[in-house]
Amino acid sequence: MLRCQNNRQLHLQDVDPAFRDDVLQGLSAEPRAVPARWLYDARGSELFEAITALPEYYPTRIERSILSSAIGEIAALTGPNRAVIEFGSGSSAKTPILLSQVSPVAYVPIDISGEFLRDSAAVLSDKFPKLPIYPVIADFTRGFALPDAINGAPRLGFFPGSTIGNLVVPAAVDLLRLISTSLGAGSMLLIGIDRVKEQEILLPAYNDPNGVTAAFNLNLLHRINRELGGSLPVEDFRHLVRWNDAEARIEMHLEARQDVQFEIDGWAFSIAKGETIHTENSLKYGLRDAFVLLRAGGWTPIAEWADQDEFFSLILAKQEPALSAP
Ligand code: AVJ
Repeated sequence: MLRCQNNRQLHLQDVDPAFRDDVLQGLSAEPRAVPARWLYDARGSELFEAITALPEYYPTRIERSILSSAIGEIAALTGPNRAVIEFGSGSSAKTPILLSQVSPVAYVPIDISGEFLRDSAAVLSDKFPKLPIYPVIADFTRGFALPDAINGAPRLGFFPGSTIGNLVVPAAVDLLRLISTSLGAGSMLLIGIDRVKEQEILLPAYNDPNGVTAAFNLNLLHRINRELGGSLPVEDFRHLVRWNDAEARIEMHLEARQDVQFEIDGWAFSIAKGETIHTENSLKYGLRDAFVLLRAGGWTPIAEWADQDEFFSLILAKQEPALSAP
């Protein structure tokens, strides 16, 4: 079946070629899927911040409270004078708790959303005027260069929010290994991982009654229209959330409410009523699953903290030099 056809190629300026390729390929693939990182343009990052304040969205709230109560122990285990490198820093909302206690020598926030990163780095530098901050705009899953200024300092990676859950297991392992080799010998990693729990809790967290998560998901279509000259009829799609038990993940999709036709950069697409575009995965882990994942990624867990309900875990791990069997 012919899934798309090019009629007329537009010459768009300022198009991110990686976005264009991911969208054109992803919408032509079977099943249709666009990588979740493209949800986070300036508007998407803003909507995600709004999600973190929703009563149904428990991860941010719980992780912050775990971090606040564990921070003394964490600081004792990491020791002072590390360069703190945060992956997917976003608004850096939890970062002050960490930075105020671990006595870092520098802070390197890495995020894909440049505007958002600059604003939040500015807010942090007001709070920590003596701390050198080196923001890095990057899709960290594809590699990143750390600033020379932190050479020689031992590193503490900070990877909160269960962002690791956006990646399927092989990609998560690749990323953890990439972080392990980039941060280098003697580094540590503080990572937040969302736990497997009942659907009664999970589904509303990704489908709030006020439609903030729906707006976050649908914003991808607005972004495609704006940045890639698309003609997607946004109203003809609806936010769909499902729990995929075999893969232990929440999935977000955009479902066509009727047969739709549209163009993107001259390529014509048609999507049948009921078909979906898969836009995000959010994998959930048992505690042992999380430990195995970390070990596969080159990290040895050394401490773990959770809330009473065990909805969320914060794990401190140390970099493990590759060893041979056994
Ligand atoms: C930023 C990937 C951790 O999966 O919970 C929240 C993104 N998507 N609501 C998550 C998200 C819809 C979030 N992460």
